[in-house]
Amino acid sequence: MTDDLTREARPPAACLEVRGLTVAARSTGKMLVENVSFSVSAGEAVALIGESGSGKSLTALAVLGLLPPSVELISGSVFLDGIDITGLHGPAAPLRGRELAVIFQDPQSCLDPRWTVGRYLTGQFRRLRDLGAKSAAAEAHALLERVGLTNPERIMRCYPHELSGGMAQRVMIAGALAGKPRILIADEPTTALDVTTQAQILDLLAELRSQNDLALLMITHDLGVVADTSDKMLVLYGGRVMEAGDTSQLLGSPNHPYTRALLAAMPDIETGTPPKPIAGTPGRPAQDDCCPFHLRCDLASATCRNTIPAFRTTSNGKRGSACHLENDNHPDQRLAAQGGQGRWL
Ligand SMILES: Nc1ncnc2c1ncn2[C@@H]1O[C@H](COP(=O)(O)OP(=O)(O)OP(=O)(O)O)[C@@H](O)[C@H]1O
Ligand code: SF4
Ligand SMILES: [Mg+2]
Repeated sequence: MTDDLTREARPPAACLEVRGLTVAARSTGKMLVENVSFSVSAGEAVALIGESGSGKSLTALAVLGLLPPSVELISGSVFLDGIDITGLHGPAAPLRGRELAVIFQDPQSCLDPRWTVGRYLTGQFRRLRDLGAKSAAAEAHALLERVGLTNPERIMRCYPHELSGGMAQRVMIAGALAGKPRILIADEPTTALDVTTQAQILDLLAELRSQNDLALLMITHDLGVVADTSDKMLVLYGGRVMEAGDTSQLLGSPNHPYTRALLAAMPDIETGTPPKPIAGTPGRPAQDDCCPFHLRCDLASATCRNTIPAFRTTSNGKRGSACHLENDNHPDQRLAAQGGQGRWL
């Protein structure tokens, strides 16, 4: 553990703090996530946004200690209340489910088709809270009601294939909450759902966050979801943080060309403007010593093609971005280089 990150030295510690997370493919050594840093406090929601393949899920899996065998954590640390848990978690770790819980995009495929909801949920309570069968069933019943399932008796007897997508996601959320986690990681939790159900699930997550003081890490490719659900956001491209800061500020006045391109890609319902997809293919270029977005950026210069832009934060530390152009536009030193760490508070 780093000295300056002890609980005593940094009060009040963020609930979850991620520092310099770097993940690479084992077979090729290709960087998939590079120097990603952020923190989430109790009751706060932070969104990770980026196109497909930008490294959102691998970041979440690295935080959870659940990276697949084909990728490896090269460096970086995960702190829970200021305590370094990087080496302590993993599939069998006691922290998982209790302190950190996760829900994924496709709830149906996460639920065992052979198990009723009741068996799954009571199992969660028995495993995570050491409850006896009767108490676990009572808690499961209450939690199903809490997540908005109005007929818990019936739902407890259902198999996953008997649930709608929205019902299954509510069951997954109930399963994630069974251990009373302090941090919930939601990886595209509404992508598979229709618009109405999506809004209901997002409302539920917001309610749980405020009532249970949950720290929420929301992963999405949808800026509308980011705007509706998060206090802070990180924009990822090619595994690197392009821009980060308060959601309202970033969406109101994006500094980074990639953030601006993402916003421009959104349809405008009021004016009837259709979506304008970002030209080019998402993904990181073959070489590393460049801005990962340079192949698709209208503003790319020779510098962008052969130098990695440092991530710089504003003097108040509230937002930052990694763009040569943006850095050049601030010669007054309001921005301070953060060693390419993508670090902001
Ligand atoms: N198990 C794996 N082995 C090797 N490479 C992987 C593995 N999983 C993901 N990758 C690669 O890592 C990069 C980031 O993947 P990741 O799944 O984190 O993207 P994502 O932002 O979650 O995308 P999506 O929006 O499609 O879910 C991609 O280039 C992907 O091909
Ligand atoms: S560093 Fe260059 S290529 Fe990258 S976003 Fe900025 S201007 Fe575009
Ligand atoms: Mg993903």
